[in-house]
Amino acid sequence: MSETAKLKIGDNSYEFPLIEGSENELAIDIKTLRGVSNGVITIDPGYKNTGACKSAITFLNGEKGVLRYRGYSIEDLAEKANFLEVAYLLIFGELPTKDQLVKFHADIKDKAIVDDDVRKILDAFPKTAHPMGILSSLTSALTAFNPSSVNVDSDEEMYQAIVKIMGKLPVLVSWAMRKINGLPLNYGSNSLGYVENVMSMMFSKPNEEYTINPIVRDALNKLLILHADHEQNCSTSTVRIVGSSHAGLFASLSAGISALWGPLHGGANQAVLEMLEAIKEDGGDTKKYMAKAKDKNDPFRLMGFGHRVYKNFDPRAKIIKVAADQVLNDLGIDDPILDVAKSLEQEALNDPYFVDRKLYPNVDFYSGIIYRAMGIPVEMFTVMFALGRLPGWIAQWREMRLGKEPIGRPRQIYTGETLREFKAVQKR
Ligand code: CMC
Repeated sequence: MSETAKLKIGDNSYEFPLIEGSENELAIDIKTLRGVSNGVITIDPGYKNTGACKSAITFLNGEKGVLRYRGYSIEDLAEKANFLEVAYLLIFGELPTKDQLVKFHADIKDKAIVDDDVRKILDAFPKTAHPMGILSSLTSALTAFNPSSVNVDSDEEMYQAIVKIMGKLPVLVSWAMRKINGLPLNYGSNSLGYVENVMSMMFSKPNEEYTINPIVRDALNKLLILHADHEQNCSTSTVRIVGSSHAGLFASLSAGISALWGPLHGGANQAVLEMLEAIKEDGGDTKKYMAKAKDKNDPFRLMGFGHRVYKNFDPRAKIIKVAADQVLNDLGIDDPILDVAKSLEQEALNDPYFVDRKLYPNVDFYSGIIYRAMGIPVEMFTVMFALGRLPGWIAQWREMRLGKEPIGRPRQIYTGETLREFKAVQKR
């Protein structure tokens, strides 16, 4: 692309190259702006117009509702793939061959034991602790038990760090849930598939044999795939920026988990279910809650609606809505919450406030209904999101480190006091 962007500030004009992506997206490359313009910077709170990096992992077209991992459509992957092959695809760039997949899984299983001392840290948490706090802390604690910092120029060291966390995080996830349910901790079984093992670790009871329900397994597999990456969202940007200081993989992931926790991001899945429950308890008056969501003097927002990038249906929400119907049907569960969700969706889709602002259901709107049908406690919903997002975070961290990206360090426009004289406390 030979075109440039021209910028005029006062009497001075500057020219900047345009960068074009493989899907024809354009960006103005302003790397040299501050240098050539004597200190002028751009400002863009929330990074609504700012690209932080070039990335070859996930393509998203928010206007058209398109999501692809490494060129494969989310619809295809959710329908046909298993979570582990999607993880491999995201991290290493290609779908694995059968041998590569077997080896990847074997290496993950080999590293899946979590040091028994980590249990002691878990024991110290009160039972009321939120499992996202537990997961973030334990992921960070793993650094103490896996001390080698990753030499990113070594393929082998990089690979070992990846299989370690792919193996250990599901154990921590299950421990967080077992703590809530008062169940003894376990380490899973190497004879099971990746997703089956997650289920067995989460749900098995010490006094009965655990049988995998294929409906639940397929739904969980799909949910994990749908959450596996979403380009430069809040938690992924956090992972990249923490990693850009050359902090290790586990420390970067721990920060990403904390970022995901917030209700405007991954925490929305818990918030949605609590909202639907509250509406049901309040007599199912969805109109009342629609009015609250539109009232600018009321902080209430319709959780599970709206998205920074999607200005059309979130393609993940479409898939999850169908899956929610299917899972509830197959499991013979009649959850009144699903009806509340559907009528809320219908009202929002026909309401000018939501239509004008292009607010559609997002990935979190229906996922909690499936998690609940699976028997997962509501506080664990965002933890499940984190488990799904793990390969995306790893892939983005790896891409950032291998790309030798500089440390992330935004600028600011200072709006505080100018220089003033210090006064001793007696004179203030
Ligand atoms: N309910 C009511 N109004 C909304 C909502 C909502 N859920 N979302 C956006 N708006 C309004 C907002 O008030 C603003 O109105 P106005 O132009 O009159 O000031 C307009 O729509 C644009 O909203 P914004 O907050 O400027 O948009 P954003 O891109 O900064 O925020 C969002 C995106 C996802 C944080 C926001 O839509 C939201 O808070 N949604 C609810 C929380 C949620 O479901 N989050 C999960 C996102 S998807 C999964 C993930 O990322 O983890």
